[in-house]
Amino acid sequence: MKKHRITLSFLEFKSVDELNDDDRTLLLKAKEAAKNAYAPYSKFKVGAALRLANGMIVIGNNQENAVYPVGLCAERVALFSAQANYPDQPIVALAISAIGSDGKIMQPVPPCGSCRQAMIEAESRHKQPLRVIMQGEEGPIIISEKMENLMPLIFAEDFLAKYTDFE
Ligand code: THU
Repeated sequence: MKKHRITLSFLEFKSVDELNDDDRTLLLKAKEAAKNAYAPYSKFKVGAALRLANGMIVIGNNQENAVYPVGLCAERVALFSAQANYPDQPIVALAISAIGSDGKIMQPVPPCGSCRQAMIEAESRHKQPLRVIMQGEEGPIIISEKMENLMPLIFAEDFLAKYTDFE
């Protein structure tokens, strides 16, 4: 038996003032996007904003449904919209924020596991590391510089390519 250890890393900032201009702008767009979320069931409004390699910003917010599983997270709304409209543009960064209904969210909002898997697909599709910027309504900001930090031991396209005739 062998025990392995995985080291993950992320950056932490005390406030938006410490961020570079690109990251700050993207996070502010995510906060704006959260306001337009359709979240009548959870009352947890999430906003996502992503930056394409050409500098364009695409936003998304969670879209809920009376049939709960039909709803989609903010991150995937933004990702799929970007991929649908700009299929050749690598996605270089994605910011996430949220507004709660019972007190200010003071800790970074992390993407769910399904969104992480979708983000990994964007990374492998475009062969470009995806930077993820997370904040609540206030409080610390954390940044992951590539998806491996948010999801180690991943199942991605290269795994399929190794064991199937998929190219
Ligand atoms: N949600 C997101 O949109 N993104 C996240 O990162 C976490 C959760 C949404 C899904 C659902 O509409 C609501 O937040 C509560 O889970």
